[in-house]
Amino acid sequence: MNEDSERNALPTAAFASASSRPALELEHVSLELAGRTILSDVSLAIGQGEFVGVLGPNGAGKTTLMRAVLGLVPVAHGAIRIGGQAVARGNAAIGYMPQTRSALASRRVLGRDFVAMAADGHRWGLPIADSATRADVERVLELVGAGTLAARPLTELSGGERQRLLLAQCLLGRPRLLLLDEPLISLDPHHQRSVVELVRRVQRELGITVLFSAHELNPLLNAIDRVLYLGRGSAALGTVDEVITRPVLSRLYGSPIDVMRVNGRIFVMSGDVEVEKHDHEHEHDGGGSSHGHAHDHGHGHRHGPHGHGTSHGQTHDV
Ligand SMILES: Nc1ncnc2c1ncn2[C@@H]1O[C@H](COP(=O)(O)OP(=O)(O)OP(=O)(O)O)[C@@H](O)[C@H]1O
Ligand SMILES: [Mg+2]
Repeated sequence: MNEDSERNALPTAAFASASSRPALELEHVSLELAGRTILSDVSLAIGQGEFVGVLGPNGAGKTTLMRAVLGLVPVAHGAIRIGGQAVARGNAAIGYMPQTRSALASRRVLGRDFVAMAADGHRWGLPIADSATRADVERVLELVGAGTLAARPLTELSGGERQRLLLAQCLLGRPRLLLLDEPLISLDPHHQRSVVELVRRVQRELGITVLFSAHELNPLLNAIDRVLYLGRGSAALGTVDEVITRPVLSRLYGSPIDVMRVNGRIFVMSGDVEVEKHDHEHEHDGGGSSHGHAHDHGHGHRHGPHGHGTSHGQTHDV
């Protein structure tokens, strides 16, 4: 009986309404870039603690949506709310792993210092960490199981291991929402699986919400709660069975799409072409970068399992 009365004494109404607010809410949102509509009148709500896979062809707006949630792309119409709050730049409740992770592979810096740089807000500067920051760095390294890797320089780590450190960076400051833009790009299937499993484990352990964009659904199939599929300015949010269907995808692609299920894998086909694969074999340098945002926009260049590109001043993913 004491338990009950104690519980009643807590400000449960305020607490309940805070915790029942969606982690992310879009209300009639339109996004435009350089006069082009990227998303048009999209409304959706993602709950606290959901792991959502974000899919859609190249240029569908996955990156743009994440940047809008961060306040880096203005909302043309409608409203985006994060945990009930309006979008604001520098929102500490959000952790972000951008799609372009330039030239990390060539950095001599030690893994631990690399993570600490992000904590200090001096991403590419010298790590100057106070004790609270150092404790947070150790906490996130532990969370992603990178305590040992962190003693090695980035140059000596595999793409999958660097991805672990990037995830650690995103977890600094205890965000409640993670936006991970193409964490699987340029990883081989084995590393893809381990990154997905790692994110899933951390997401559950912390009870946080994750938006995880990817080119292919299959690596995410057993991990995600729901899928957010973007195409032609529209969005569909639901379980895999609700969204990965002929009518929904045909609408999003604007042409007839077939969905084939083989041995627990799903293939999204347009005629005899697998669209997810096909789209991303022709990655392009889209969208000018004249916006002067803090994070540059870029499209991943497809290359070998562990890209170590250094030439031509191009950006390369880890
Ligand atoms: N800064 C920009 N200025 C103008 N157009 C842009 C800009 N950034 C992106 N775009 C365009 O907006 C559209 C959506 O791009 P976005 O990068 O969000 O797509 P995406 O779904 O992330 O694609 P990908 O799978 O290739 O990463 C594309 O047509 C792109 O060319
Ligand atoms: Mg993108």
